[in-house]
Amino acid sequence: MCGIVGYIGEQEATPILVEGLKKLEYRGYDSAGVALYNDGNMDIFKIVGKLENLEGLTDKEKPKGTIGIGHTRWATHGKPSTPNSHPHTSTNGKFTVVHNGIIENYMQLKEELKAKGYEFKSETDTEVVPNLIQDNYDGDLEEAVRKTIEMLKGAYALVVLSTEEPEKLVTVREDSPLIIGLGEGEYFVASDIPAILKHTDEVYILDDGEMAVITRNGVELSTVTGNNVDKDVFKVDWDPGMAEKGGFDHFMLKEIHEQPEALRRSIAGRLNGDSVHFDNVNLTAKELEKYNKVYIIACGTAYYSGVVGKYAIEKLARIPVEVDVASEFRYREPLVDEKTLVIAVSQSGETADTLASLREARDRGAHVIAICNTVGSSIAREADDIIYLNAGPEIAVASTKAYITMLMCFYMLSIYLGKTKGLLEDDDSKKLISDLKRLPEQVEDIIENSTGTIKDLAKEYAKYEDAFYIGRLIDYAVALEGQLKLKEISYIHAEAYPAGELKHGPLALIEEGIPVVAVATQRSVIDKTLSNVKEVKARGGAVTGVVFEGEEDIEDLDYRIEIPGTSEILSAILAVVPLQLLSYYVAVQRGYDVDQPRNLAKSVTVE
Ligand code: M6R
Repeated sequence: MCGIVGYIGEQEATPILVEGLKKLEYRGYDSAGVALYNDGNMDIFKIVGKLENLEGLTDKEKPKGTIGIGHTRWATHGKPSTPNSHPHTSTNGKFTVVHNGIIENYMQLKEELKAKGYEFKSETDTEVVPNLIQDNYDGDLEEAVRKTIEMLKGAYALVVLSTEEPEKLVTVREDSPLIIGLGEGEYFVASDIPAILKHTDEVYILDDGEMAVITRNGVELSTVTGNNVDKDVFKVDWDPGMAEKGGFDHFMLKEIHEQPEALRRSIAGRLNGDSVHFDNVNLTAKELEKYNKVYIIACGTAYYSGVVGKYAIEKLARIPVEVDVASEFRYREPLVDEKTLVIAVSQSGETADTLASLREARDRGAHVIAICNTVGSSIAREADDIIYLNAGPEIAVASTKAYITMLMCFYMLSIYLGKTKGLLEDDDSKKLISDLKRLPEQVEDIIENSTGTIKDLAKEYAKYEDAFYIGRLIDYAVALEGQLKLKEISYIHAEAYPAGELKHGPLALIEEGIPVVAVATQRSVIDKTLSNVKEVKARGGAVTGVVFEGEEDIEDLDYRIEIPGTSEILSAILAVVPLQLLSYYVAVQRGYDVDQPRNLAKSVTVE
């Protein structure tokens, strides 16, 4: 995790660095810092707490310089504190580094450096890097970085600035994202595109094992082993406004409201009458025959989208699907081989566990399709096939528009697989596709019509420390996502259960007033869900039902939130919206920082 930035050009670097860091604050926000080279000196400003603290510090001190680096931290090694925050500097003060990732062998390297007389001021793994560069420096910064890289084990995106060669930035990546923005006589380095979008839409996306030496005259790309790299410039097609709050109080609320547009982008060019087309997935019926199982691997919200994916693929394409949390999958010798179709799902495309699982699956011979938002990310590049979400940049830590477009991609893929296998009649796929196309507008309606009720509901639910979400079949999958959303931003303990499972234990936790959200859209089990709602009501639970408009059979609710009608299997896309709004307004009601919840970061590039 962590966000890193760099700038070299003719402008004052500080505002550019601080503004870039603000766009990366979703990656970590427990401390931040910048280093600027100016007139023979390296000036370093760092401070614990959010970016606004660094902004206050730099506003006061007004550091000068047209070359600099910056960092916003999510602590791994060493608590959040000013000494542990980046940039870190070598013992002689000449080499300064910002780092995203983890240096796994830092303990051993630190001991070796200490034995040589090097001094350490922090508890971080990163501080070995500038000291190793100092140790390896013999008049050539690039060479010293290469030698240092050879000694490191782990994941890193690094930017190095030195008083010895102050007219350049040296940057390198291995398993942590890094891009270089190309301006006119100025260049930008960042962990992610939003940080540079205001300045340029042309970027190089560095691959693992690549480095760049950046001067005001240009960018030289090479591998860490010293071979030249010739790389295409990637043109970003995002509007800079997409990475701004645009009048909303929080990015999360803005992103909830952007969902209709994100869904429209996600289906654009992919739905055609009764069939689905993907630019980068071309599986023939014969190829599909080969696969006896689908394995979905992902983390967090992406994992919960996979639970919906399981229902959809099993129903429409009749292939058995396993869904696994990537951090478990990778370590348990998964039963995956060339007969397995693996689907790796990730908004960021950089989640370490999902990336490692993808590699594990490919090593075992599986064909991997990635469902991913971030163009050019590691997961997108390393998969055999890629389905982009096209959700646009998602900044809030709590995922919303990425989740809903993941669902859309799963639905489209399920129809694609069902059609390719010859299992879906044209009329059935036509109906599903026509319903898919109506979803963006229906999401708009839900946001407009249910926000008032949800705000009232949030005032009530915000008083409790526990909440439960129940549902059956695909409604249970939605309940899982609902409970995670509430947990991560409102810090309320929340759990989701298949509604029929309550009586096997969790019912003991229901007492007067406890919030219970019942998602009840699946007609085939509506009576059963109603019984479970009654069981909760009988114990005093305050039940909110998320039901289709006109649903008569679910009664006895304390709150009722209606969603418009659609094919039952597609209900997840609609049913999740009230749950997102509920968690948002509960968190606001409790006065928490919605976009930057405690202890979390957006992109989890550590194991
Ligand atoms: O970038 P990814 O989709 O791979 O991220 C996976 C999870 O870290 C992510 O979904 C996380 O659970 C979100 N904070 C949920 O809102």
